[in-house]
Amino acid sequence: MRNPKSFYLRTYGCQMNELDTEIMAGILKKRGLEQVQEEENADLLIFNTCSIRDLAERKVMGKLGQLGRSKKRAAIIGVTGCMAMAKKESLFKKLPHIDFVLGTNNITDLDLVLDEVLKGETQKIKTDLKFEENLDYLVASRESKTSAHISIIRGCDKFCTYCVVPYTRGREVSRPGADIENEVRKLAGEGYKEITLLGQNVNSFGKDKPESKELFHDLLYRLDKIDGIERIRFLTSHPVDITYELMQAIRDLPSVCEFVHFPIQAGSDRILRKMHRIYTKSQYLEKVALLKETVPGVSLGTDIIVGFPTETEAEFQETYDVFKEIGYSVAFLYTYSPRQGTPAMRWQDDIPEEVKEERHQRLLELFHETSAKEREKLVGETVEVLFEKRNKTNMLKGRTRCWKKVIADGPDSLLGTLQKVKVHSFNHETLLGTVIA
Ligand code: SAH
Ligand code: SF4
Ligand code: F3S
Repeated sequence: MRNPKSFYLRTYGCQMNELDTEIMAGILKKRGLEQVQEEENADLLIFNTCSIRDLAERKVMGKLGQLGRSKKRAAIIGVTGCMAMAKKESLFKKLPHIDFVLGTNNITDLDLVLDEVLKGETQKIKTDLKFEENLDYLVASRESKTSAHISIIRGCDKFCTYCVVPYTRGREVSRPGADIENEVRKLAGEGYKEITLLGQNVNSFGKDKPESKELFHDLLYRLDKIDGIERIRFLTSHPVDITYELMQAIRDLPSVCEFVHFPIQAGSDRILRKMHRIYTKSQYLEKVALLKETVPGVSLGTDIIVGFPTETEAEFQETYDVFKEIGYSVAFLYTYSPRQGTPAMRWQDDIPEEVKEERHQRLLELFHETSAKEREKLVGETVEVLFEKRNKTNMLKGRTRCWKKVIADGPDSLLGTLQKVKVHSFNHETLLGTVIA
């Protein structure tokens, strides 16, 4: 096989996958390959996949099937990410034109696997469930020069009954705090202003390494001290593990943004129990109350699944009501999708798709209403925006500390800087404003 000179990487799924893509891009660039944006021009194609819902998998399978049918040239094709872990060898049966499959915990092996494929070995596969702590995060080649994703804990130990992640990413492994600090210092030196700390459950950070005595809030104190980093964000928080110490850190540390994404998933205690979320609605509401009291002006984000097996109309209504009561600024709303290998597969997927879709629509309408009201309240106010890029209409685009999108007119010199913006209007998703000199 010909030594590849260029590569094309496509990401599906969450921020963790986006970061893994940036690490793979770094490994390939170090090898001397050039990244291209058009798959037609690449000698190596990698699809970094997601398995969270059936639709996510179908998108990739469709794409890969189409590549096989039209494979005219000798590009090397690799499948990485969560679907590689969920489907393993069976991918080669369905898609015989794939050259390698590399799991979420085997990114370090990318070089090795490529060498083997170049030597003529076929259908190479590495899908370890256990993460060995030998990944070189510093090699990552990031798209943004302003805002960076940082992995602080990989895997998940929570085993919600509907979710594939514990099977596609393995057990929780925290990264040493000193390594994280080192990477953030390097990024600050390169001019990055914002970091987002990533984990399926960032609040578990440190619990698998009791000897280090550093928990998630301790890590925030450590990173807040780094000069140049103006904003620290983190995703995602499991409600059970949100501590008062964390709330105090959000309140007291200047760089930590006042926004917490901690998914409720459902509002009915029976469904929450069946989901194995290990909290009740009232326990969740207690956390919300304490958070709002401790961190004035805090914004909240959530994920919700509707149409979980056996969910009644009354139980959906409980989700609707609690969603309305809390008033989220950010919400990702999903219809339940049964996943192979998860405990929820033992229950019949008994809610008809039309009913799931209708519940989804009702919640979506409520969210649009409440979030429009939230944006309306900000008209006339001044907000702090970190400008990241230009949008299609050539306006500067950025976000507030609480994750609201803002666009404004201005010169390129404002890109990568924090600015005060006076909001004059808003539309479907975005605030529109004027930069105040
Ligand atoms: N670790 C994060 C989120 C991981 S996946 C957390 O626990 O909050 C992102 C979201 O996808 C989940 O919060 C959930 O709302 C949704 N999701 C996961 N599995 C799903 C499934 N089988 N069907 C529908 N939505 C699902
Ligand atoms: Fe999945 Fe639950 Fe883990 Fe989140 S906490 S990744 S939903 S198992
Ligand atoms: Fe998808 Fe894996 Fe992320 S299943 S959502 S890419 S952790």
